[in-house]
Order: sequence, then structure tokens, then C-alpha cells
Amino acid sequence: MEVIHWCWVVVGVVMGWCWYKSIKNKAKEEGSGVPRGNPGWPVIGETIDFIASGWSSRPVSFMEKRKSRYGKVFKTNILGKPVIVSTDPEVNKVVLQNIGNIFIPAYPQTITEILGESSILQMNGSLQKRVHALLGGFLRSPQLKARITRDIERYVKLTLDSWKDQHIVYVQDEVRKITFDVLVRVLVSITPGEDLNFMKREFAEVIKGLICLPIKFPGTRLYKSLKAKERLLKLVRRIVEERKAAMDRGDHETLKGPPNDAVDVLLRDTGDSAETSRLSLDFISSNMIEMMIPGEETLPTAMTLAVKFLSDCPVALNQLMEENMELKKGKALSGEDYAWTDYMCLPFTQNVINETLRMANIINAVWRKAVKDVKIKDYLIPKGWGVMASFISIHMDEENYEDPYQFNPWRWEKAASVNNNNSYTPFGGGQRLCPGLELSKLEISIFLHHLVTTYRWVAKTDDVVHFPTVKMRKKLPITVTPLPPL
Ligand code: HEM
Repeated sequence: MEVIHWCWVVVGVVMGWCWYKSIKNKAKEEGSGVPRGNPGWPVIGETIDFIASGWSSRPVSFMEKRKSRYGKVFKTNILGKPVIVSTDPEVNKVVLQNIGNIFIPAYPQTITEILGESSILQMNGSLQKRVHALLGGFLRSPQLKARITRDIERYVKLTLDSWKDQHIVYVQDEVRKITFDVLVRVLVSITPGEDLNFMKREFAEVIKGLICLPIKFPGTRLYKSLKAKERLLKLVRRIVEERKAAMDRGDHETLKGPPNDAVDVLLRDTGDSAETSRLSLDFISSNMIEMMIPGEETLPTAMTLAVKFLSDCPVALNQLMEENMELKKGKALSGEDYAWTDYMCLPFTQNVINETLRMANIINAVWRKAVKDVKIKDYLIPKGWGVMASFISIHMDEENYEDPYQFNPWRWEKAASVNNNNSYTPFGGGQRLCPGLELSKLEISIFLHHLVTTYRWVAKTDDVVHFPTVKMRKKLPITVTPLPPL
């Protein structure tokens, strides 16, 4: 009884202290330009409401409620931290451009642990810019796109072929087979076989720990994921060492011609001044694994949701099929191989992809922390505060998109340039604009082309869940019927 009594006293004191602090802070913030908002309950803040809206069918409801009360930029307290949430395209642009390096990435603790300090996703300053430029330059290069198109076609056809014998196809699982193989090919050139299977298994373990309790001792989820990352690192380190040894021997293939993969790109870079030297083998090896993390979940989700939205919109599916059939017939007549540009030149297909990425909101926001006080428009973001630049609330805002919950690929026929639009940021922007943007669009285009020219399908009822990550509740089951050959 005595113990319970003291527990209540402690809880009372903690709550009272938090309440006192919040009143004090409120008084300090009023008139300072800190956006208006509600810090919520002591300790938990507004976390419960935030998570509940993520579970609901309308994940923007958390933002919408506060936006109507406080304006497009508001303060809250979620996941144990004071955060300023921006649903304003202009404020988001400033956060993403990050001129003056005011904002640093601020991921939840488990993601930080798994990524490690030297990951491109957590680095700041000149090293991040250097690695980003190297990687982006490689992934955007026409040489890579030409070569990887053949690999993507092969993996897509293999996967689609296997659907003929399946009673029910779970799209979400199937597309992952394509995207992981392509990703590993692009980063470290591992082709299907034992090493790739090992990577698949271990990587699946790694990502399970991204969102879990931040407790690290034998048996916990986070611990198991970190151990799996160590095992993966051993394999990748061996590949990187072998490649380096070949370079040191003067092996022609590893030194001349366009780089084969991201390992080549980073190994070849010598740095450009006395301050920047070669990247270490440890740095390159661990970054190869860490770079798989943003690529692994996003792309298969985009492909799955494209299939979902098309299943629900037969008119769009029909137009997509007609456009792609025309290309297929042209290729059959000429007997030519597809060039990567053939896939990217289909206007309606690109509109379908843009619209899918707008609605799918796979990375629905980016999280940053301000390293000093900063004023954007009339808002003050105090040093040490988190900033959540929300993409989903901009993509689903009637001010920016008419009838935003409607899958409408035709809206992109009229839209201004997709690449120069603050209200459309599925790949982020500024310094950290996704280096995998063009590769992703190419991969989705190839997948859609072969899918709609090979099969008709019927999707079973399923819906999109938004928390903790975007996915289909039942993995999107479909039944397929092969189309007659041309
Ligand atoms: C539909 C697919 C994809 C979407 C929607 C997507 C989205 C994003 C977004 C929003 C960011 C910015 C994160 C931030 O600002 O903190 C980002 C960064 C990044 N993405 Fe992607 N991504 C996709 C595919 C890929 C692929 C396939 C790769 C790998 C080949 C990749 C590699 C990266 C990397 C390395 C970064 C970090 C860049 C940096 O911080 O400098 N992404 N992605």
C-alpha cells in the first residue's frame, strides 16, 4: 500500500513539473514567432492522436485538425519530442533546400541505430554532398539505365512468368522479388545465387528492427537486426575488398569504362582536394547496406499501389494498356530491343506513375532537427526543435489538387512541370532529393509495360494501411488471365 502511495506521489510530481514547464515555455514562446499549437499531455504529448490517425483510413486527419485550428505550420509534441509540423509547400521547400545547413536529419532512435553514424542518410555537410553527387550521377547516367533496363526486363519477365501457375498472386510479395534483385545489382553487382539469397534473408532481418522498441540486448528485435547487419557487412566487405584488390592490380575492367555499380563509383573516387581523400572500405561497405534501406521498401510499395489504383480505375487501366500495347506491337514489328527511353516516353504511363506517387505517399514526411534558431516566413523554429515537413498533407490538400482522393492520372496532362513543383515531393527535394528517382520511375515503367501487355487481372478486396509504413493489408491478392499472344 505504502509503495502504491509513493508511486502516485512521484507521478503527481512528474506531471506537475511537466505542466509547470509547459506553462513556462508557452509564456516564453508567445509572441516569439514559434508557431501556435498544443504540446498535448505531459510526456506523451499528442503521440496517441498522431498514431491513431496513422492507423485510420485518413492519415492526414492529425494534420488537418491542427491546420484548421492553428494554420499551415503548427507545433506539437510527438514521439517524445517537441516538433514543428509544416504543411506549407514554401516552408517545406526551405527545409528541404537547407541552405546554410541549419537542419540535420532526425530519425527515431531505432532507425538511427541501424543506419549507423556514417550512413548517407544521417551524414551532413560536405561528405553527404559528395556521396550524394557520386551516387546520383551514377544512378541517373544513361549508361546505367541502358544496362539495367536489360536486367529489369529479365527479372520482371521471370516474375510475371511464374504467375501463370499461381492460383492467387500476392502482388506486394511478388514485386519485391524484382526490386531487391535490381537494387543489389546496382549497388554491389550480386546476381541471383547463394549470396543473393543470403542477402535477402539477412536484409529482411535488418529492416524488421527499423521500427521496434529501442532496447538492445541479446534476444531483442533491435539486437537481432544489428547482428544481421554485421553478417551482411562481412559479405559486402569481402566484395569491396576483392574489387579494391583488382583495382590495385590494375585490372582493366575495374578501372576503365563506365562503373558497373555503386561500389565501383565510390572506390574510383579519389576526392578532389587535400581535405577530401579516398573513402574508406568500411565506409563504402556499410553504406551499400544502408542505401538499400530507402530503396527496399519504397519501390515495391509504389508498384503494388499502382496495381491497386489501376484495378480500381478501369478507364485508366484501359488507356494504359492501349498505350503500352502500341509500343509492344511496334517493337514486335521492328524486331528491335526496347531502349530505356522507349519506356520513359509513354506519356500516359508517366502520368499514372506520378499520380500513384502522389496518392501513395510512401515517405509521407521527412524529419529534421534545427541546429540553430531559424525564421521561415514569419515562423520561428527554435534551436533543438524537430521539424516534420509533411508531404502527405500537401499531396492530399484540395488547395493543391482538385478532388485529391480521386486517382486521376489525367490531372498531370495539365499540370505544370512535375520536377519543379513545391506541392509535389514524393522523392523529397533539395540536397537530399532521392538519388534513386529516375531509376525508380524506369523500373515502375518497365514493370507496368510488361504487366498490362501480358495479363488481365482481377483484384480481391484489400485496402491501404498507412502505419507504421504504407502497405496493403492483405498484400494485394489478384487472379490473372494471360492475354493472347500478339
Ligand atoms: C518510389 C521509390 C522511392 C521513393 C518514393 C523515394 C523517396 C525518397 C525520399 C522522399 C528521400 C528524401 C529523404 C530525406 O530527405 O530525408 C529519399 C532519399 C534517398 N533515397 Fe529514395 N525513394 C525511392 C527509391 C529509391 C531507390 C530505388 C534508391 C536506391 C537506389 C533510393 C535511395 C535513396 C537514398 C540513398 C536517399 C538518401 C539521399 C541523401 O540523404 O543524400 N531511393 N528517397
